[in-house]
Amino acid sequence: MDMTPLAPKCGVEIAGIQLAETDGAQLEAVKQAVYEHGVGLFRQQEFSPEDHIAFAKRWGGIDINNYFPLNDAYPEIALVRKRADQAMNIGGAWHTDHSYDQVPAMGSILVARELPPSGGDTLYAHMGAAYDSLPDDLKEEIEGLEAFHSADHVYKEDGLYAQTDMGGDLRGQDLETGATHPVVIRHPETGRKLLYVNSAFTIHIVGRTREESLPLLQRLYAAALNDENQYCVQWQPGSVAIWDNRTTWHNAVNDYQGHAREMHRITLSGEALAV
Ligand code: SIN
Repeated sequence: MDMTPLAPKCGVEIAGIQLAETDGAQLEAVKQAVYEHGVGLFRQQEFSPEDHIAFAKRWGGIDINNYFPLNDAYPEIALVRKRADQAMNIGGAWHTDHSYDQVPAMGSILVARELPPSGGDTLYAHMGAAYDSLPDDLKEEIEGLEAFHSADHVYKEDGLYAQTDMGGDLRGQDLETGATHPVVIRHPETGRKLLYVNSAFTIHIVGRTREESLPLLQRLYAAALNDENQYCVQWQPGSVAIWDNRTTWHNAVNDYQGHAREMHRITLSGEALAV
């Protein structure tokens, strides 16, 4: 197994293994690399839906996504799908999956099934690097703060997706979400401090209104998206990415109008987050 960092602060390519056969000590090494680098990229994988589910079960539990369409034959697999005639994609803004859950999903395993002729990349940003880059006074200012997260403005019947041509594809428009997490968490496995607010689902700092919270949140978001913290996955047939939601944000670039893109996503169970 060969590991090559993809950018100075985010992402690692792991070559020389087939995920379908990865288990035991090799799986532990893959996990540690994903926890540390935020996203692992695996090329030229032979990875059927059955392999995808079996690998996710070897990693840990599977969280079924409440909103995305599910694969009829394999309900553990969510379809991140955009038809050629749709303008809106899923996940096309910076976000951290499931931060609106009190026990957020650990991460995801995303498999490229149908790709546009060009574009359709996924951007990742490393929240450990983002935290490290903050000036000391800002680190002190956010120490001990908590933030409230929700997905209601995104997925509910009057939410963002419902106003678009993706709205009809999604489920769970009657669900209500809300969770409180520390603004800075420690990675449960590596112990690294990570910035844990995101521009899609963080609503406000606990004890402050949204208006009072926004200046601070926007300073944190600007630090999170420093170019040096980012890596861009350019998908190829057979590519699989595994990311850690605690360590990274991601953003599915919607630059392939008139073409279809279909990815299979399994969301991995996580644990409550703490400082
Ligand atoms: C997502 O899981 O947010 C979508 C990622 C992608 O389609 O690249």
